[in-house]
Amino acid sequence: MSKIMKVIQLVVLISLLGAVFLFIQNQPVENFNSVEQVIVLPDPETTGNLSVEEAINKRRSIRNFQEKPLTLKELAQLLWAAQGITDKKNDLRTVPSAGAIYPLEIYIVIGEDGVNGLTSGFYHFNPIRNELDYIRKGDMRLNLSNTAYGQESIKKAPVTIIITGVYSRTQNRYGDRGIQYVHMEAGHSGQNLYLQAEALELGTVVIGSFSNEDVQTVLKLPNDHTPLYLVPVGHPAN
Ligand SMILES: Cc1cc2nc3c(=O)[nH]c(=O)nc-3n(C[C@H](O)[C@H](O)[C@H](O)COP(=O)(O)O)c2cc1C
Repeated sequence: MSKIMKVIQLVVLISLLGAVFLFIQNQPVENFNSVEQVIVLPDPETTGNLSVEEAINKRRSIRNFQEKPLTLKELAQLLWAAQGITDKKNDLRTVPSAGAIYPLEIYIVIGEDGVNGLTSGFYHFNPIRNELDYIRKGDMRLNLSNTAYGQESIKKAPVTIIITGVYSRTQNRYGDRGIQYVHMEAGHSGQNLYLQAEALELGTVVIGSFSNEDVQTVLKLPNDHTPLYLVPVGHPAN
C-alpha cells in the first residue's frame, strides 16, 4: 500500500474515533447504571388558565411549604417546563439551548409522601422518553439541605428539582464560552420552573447557595454533572 493511502486511512480512522467520542459525550443520560425502575410520566398540558403575563407578574420566591404531596401530573408538568420536549420531530425543548446541544440533566429528590404514588428517593428525568428513572431510595431532604447550609426550604419541600449541567457537551463545540452558555441555560430552565409553578398554584425558589462537592457526594451524581440550581417546590404555606 502506498504511503499516501496509509495516511488517508489513518486520517479516516482518527476522524471516525473522534466522531464516536463526540457522539458518546453528547448523549443524554438514558440509562443510569443502577436504575431501579422506570416511571412513565403523564403527557404535559400545553394550555392553561393563567396567562404568561399573569404568571410573570405573580412570580415570587416561596420558601415555606405545606406538608402536602404533589401529584405525578404536577411533577411531570414541572419537569416538562424545565427541560421537556416541544418538538418531537427535531427533539427541541421548552428551553433554548446553544446549538440545540442540551447540556442540562434534571434530577429530583422526592421526600417521604412527596409525590402521590412515588417512593421517596432520587430520580432522573428522561425528557426524550418523558420518563423518570428511579435511581435510589430514601428521603435525602435533610442531607440535601445541609449541602445548602441548612436552608429550610429544601427540608420542607416535598420535592426538590436539581438542575445540573454537563459542560463538555457544549464546550466540545464552543470551547470556554460553552461554560457561560450552560449557566445561561440553567437560568432559562429555572425561570420556566418559576412560571410553571405559578400556573399550578405551587411555590418554588431557585437556590444557588450550596456546596457543589457536597451535592455531588450526597446525590452520587456522575462526576461531569455539575449541580447548578437546587429548586424546592411545594404547596405554599398560608
Ligand atoms: C442565582 C440565584 C441564586 C439564588 N440563591 C438563593 C438561595 O440560595 N436561597 C434562597 O432562598 N433564594 C435564592 N435565590 C432567590 C432570591 O433570593 C430571590 O430571587 C430574590 O430575593 C428576589 O425575590 P423574588 O424571587 O421573590 O422576586 C437565588 C436567586 C438567584 C437568581
